[in-house]
Amino acid sequence: MNAREIKKDIFYVGAVDWDRRLFDSLIPLPDGTSYNSYLVRGSEKTVLLDTVDPAMTGVLFSQLEGVAAIDYLVAHHAEQDHSGSIPDVLAKYPKAKVVCTPKAKGMLIDLLRVPEDRFVTVGDGETLSLGNKVLEFIHTPWVHWPETMGTYLKEDRIFFSCDFFGSHLAASNLFVTDEGRVYEAAKRYYAEIMMPFRTTIQKNLEKVKSRDIQMIAPSHGPIYPRPGFIIDAYADWVSDRPKNVAVIPYISMHGSTAGMVQYLVGSLSEKGVMVEQFNLADTDIGKLAISLVDAATVVFGTPTVHVGPHPKIVYAAHLANALRPKAKFATVIGSFGWATKAAEQIVGLVPGLKVEVLPPVICKGAPREADFKALEDLAQTIVKKHKELNLAS
Ligand code: FEO
Repeated sequence: MNAREIKKDIFYVGAVDWDRRLFDSLIPLPDGTSYNSYLVRGSEKTVLLDTVDPAMTGVLFSQLEGVAAIDYLVAHHAEQDHSGSIPDVLAKYPKAKVVCTPKAKGMLIDLLRVPEDRFVTVGDGETLSLGNKVLEFIHTPWVHWPETMGTYLKEDRIFFSCDFFGSHLAASNLFVTDEGRVYEAAKRYYAEIMMPFRTTIQKNLEKVKSRDIQMIAPSHGPIYPRPGFIIDAYADWVSDRPKNVAVIPYISMHGSTAGMVQYLVGSLSEKGVMVEQFNLADTDIGKLAISLVDAATVVFGTPTVHVGPHPKIVYAAHLANALRPKAKFATVIGSFGWATKAAEQIVGLVPGLKVEVLPPVICKGAPREADFKALEDLAQTIVKKHKELNLAS
């Protein structure tokens, strides 16, 4: 692979990982991913913006053939999918200095044992001249680690955002051509790793919007030639207002909980609430995360196993709690055989949700008429709560 020019003297030198199917041994990657690295040639200095996952160092190096000198290596983020090749790049270019935030310096020393004398740390808003081009470093903490920053190249009006605005999407095209496809991939990415830092991202978004940007070049997925598309999407995702949406992750062992879910989904749908149900026996956890971005209500559906909730619901509850979506309401429905503490235990697992807990509906054995009546009441309560907040669909 040869380096590809995205604008005069600015080259894409990253690696597309078509086959990767799991990130952090946790996050499903149905569409693969990419580790974007960019080379900027100024009239006096040359800079490499991020590296690639260490498994793909060879791909990076094949594109750096013929690049005699790199003066600076900007490390926007210390996570290894972007920093992992730094030691190899520093070995190949012994005069190159790593440019990063003070926090990133410590992390890169810890994670990769980068020698201390190879660093130049930069403050928020600090600039670095390459001759005819000037890099401005914009600290954007918590997208999604504390040390993260982006680089604004004013002369070309490009913002190199690293993980911020990224998408796990392997593609041969450098630029976004199908915004609908990228929207889903970027929303999945936001949901899985950015959502817990939603309120901090609101501030970072304002910082980015204050610059005159013609192009956003992230570290995963295609480059945005129309930055407004992804900036507007992020503004919606990080906003404090959920939508008129109920999400129901559930599991069923013998059909009772499934029957309750089916009833509740039908009732909510008839009343105008958009519902997304996920059978955790066979669900892409990323799809569930995407739904949590907008949901106003989360209903956990679980049978009782050894008096507590089913382990798959425990996993989903733990995940939802960690992702800290903007949901306002939550509850539990499900059935039990002889004794249960499933509802209390699920509620105890989600303190991070900061929700009003609506009355659970738990039935003994298969649901009877009174149980369906309780589900109907729950649906009416959800509708009423959503209406009180005047939520948009
Ligand atoms: Fe793409 Fe947080 O690394």
